[in-house]
Amino acid sequence: MNEHTVSAPTDSPAWTELIDEASRLRASSIRDLLDGPRDFLKIDESGVLFDFSRQRLDQRALDLLIELAGSMKVAEIRDAMFDGQAINITEDRSVLHVALRAPRDSQFQSNDADVLADVHAVLDKMADFAEAVRSGSWRGSTGEVITDVVNIGIGGSDLGPVMAYQALRAFRDPQIACHFVSNVDPADLTDVLSRVDPERTLFVIASKTFTTQETMANAARARAWISGALGEQAVSRHFVAVSTAQERVRAFGIDTDNMFGFWNWVGGRYSMTSAIGLSTMVAIGPENYRSLLAGFHAMDMHFRNAPPTRNIPFLMGLLAVWNRNFLKIPTTAVLPYSQDLSRFPAYLQQLTMESNGKSVRLDGSPVAYETGAIYWGEPGTNGQHSFFQLLHQGTDDVASDIIILARPCDSGAAESSDVARQHEMLVANALAQASVLSVGLTADEVRAAGTDEHLVAHKVMPGNRPVSVILVPELTPYTLGLLVAAYEHSVFVQGAVWKINPFDQWGVELGKKVAAGIVRDIDAEDVDDPDLDTATKASLAAYLALRDPS
Ligand code: F6P
Repeated sequence: MNEHTVSAPTDSPAWTELIDEASRLRASSIRDLLDGPRDFLKIDESGVLFDFSRQRLDQRALDLLIELAGSMKVAEIRDAMFDGQAINITEDRSVLHVALRAPRDSQFQSNDADVLADVHAVLDKMADFAEAVRSGSWRGSTGEVITDVVNIGIGGSDLGPVMAYQALRAFRDPQIACHFVSNVDPADLTDVLSRVDPERTLFVIASKTFTTQETMANAARARAWISGALGEQAVSRHFVAVSTAQERVRAFGIDTDNMFGFWNWVGGRYSMTSAIGLSTMVAIGPENYRSLLAGFHAMDMHFRNAPPTRNIPFLMGLLAVWNRNFLKIPTTAVLPYSQDLSRFPAYLQQLTMESNGKSVRLDGSPVAYETGAIYWGEPGTNGQHSFFQLLHQGTDDVASDIIILARPCDSGAAESSDVARQHEMLVANALAQASVLSVGLTADEVRAAGTDEHLVAHKVMPGNRPVSVILVPELTPYTLGLLVAAYEHSVFVQGAVWKINPFDQWGVELGKKVAAGIVRDIDAEDVDDPDLDTATKASLAAYLALRDPS
């Protein structure tokens, strides 16, 4: 036992009762449940309707889940997070991404530093810079205006910005295109460099640590490309950095005046509202960016203040626990019916899976229950024509989050009646899938439709797949912020119930270390590194032979 010994959720009486509840509910179906009252599973926040009525649970099960959250002290841990306590105990850090979107006059204290003043000083600096780029007063070394911004970063230093850039297409400045390079695969940067003009290109090197191998390799190549085309003195006009590591930024050769800082209390996957959002701010402008922050903040405040029964992230998180631990559903499909949200599933993958893909509790003891589900997805309607078959009739249950926009992003377009029509078709598909997944079609109903008997079994739709529908009036910076923050806090609730740490990511470290060793082996053409297992040695030898055929 150590100082972080915690109780396990399985010790809570509510857990045992929930197991019974799940077997009772196994005998009923979502179709049956929908005949009863379901409004307790619908919550509206700022016009966004979170509708959990198609989940496979009833009031009794929800009450027990809330009891479970109470016994795991979820609300107390939430308050500790907002208070700036070092709840990320394996890294001894506070977790204060909520401070990044708090208005100037709110109070956040962490280790005596004036967090809000620091946050707003960076936001002001970002706004000045974004305006300078957008207005053309920030120019490249040859006097050209900037038309292309290339964000080089990976993980949380990429996925939030690229997701937001795509999602907020309708709010972008058409004069400036943003590009996102993340992969160490040289093809990623090569492709972008082939499409931009060095004189008009600004690179944003986004890395919390400024050590990440992919980002550093791409940044070095980009730097060589600029200095090769425009001379070494051009670097200061074509590179800015977003990081917590001032010394490393300086060592790279970026003027720290052109650095936008953040702090170690911002986790990478929780950083899209830190200076990591610089490319977003350049793309959509400071005012829209402030609206994005306001959406996040509205959900932060809702999470902090709403009672658990009417608290969206509480319910989302507890439903995820219900599906994972009691209905034994291992994966959740994220299905935005919005092409503009096409990177939202990828963004959520890091948020959810890097956070809750853990199998030891805070005290280091192994969990004896399932933790984070696998998240994946694609926008509708495309997914309907690829993997939905398995969702409907496969042997595993999959939970789904269907996101619907009531109005299209292009409602003002010239061909607006056609756009509106297509959008109605999109919404109809989303609602149809939510219905078929949850309600299904019985054999009798298939027969009643005149189906030949030998095909009846093939056409039965089991239904009973839990679905959450999130209905968003339209995709704006504000509603995007609201949506992302809801998922962030849902992840928090799950982690708090499971008593794991959603804010570290030790599981990704070993692969980085081993890769660094293999790079050294490649340099030395050493196929007998004693640190490598035999299969890897053999693969390395095969690779070297293929790389250099002679
Ligand atoms: O490898 C995982 C990770 O540490 C993520 O958590 C993080 O978002 C990403 O790498 C990038 O890290 P950095 O911003 O320090 O380059």
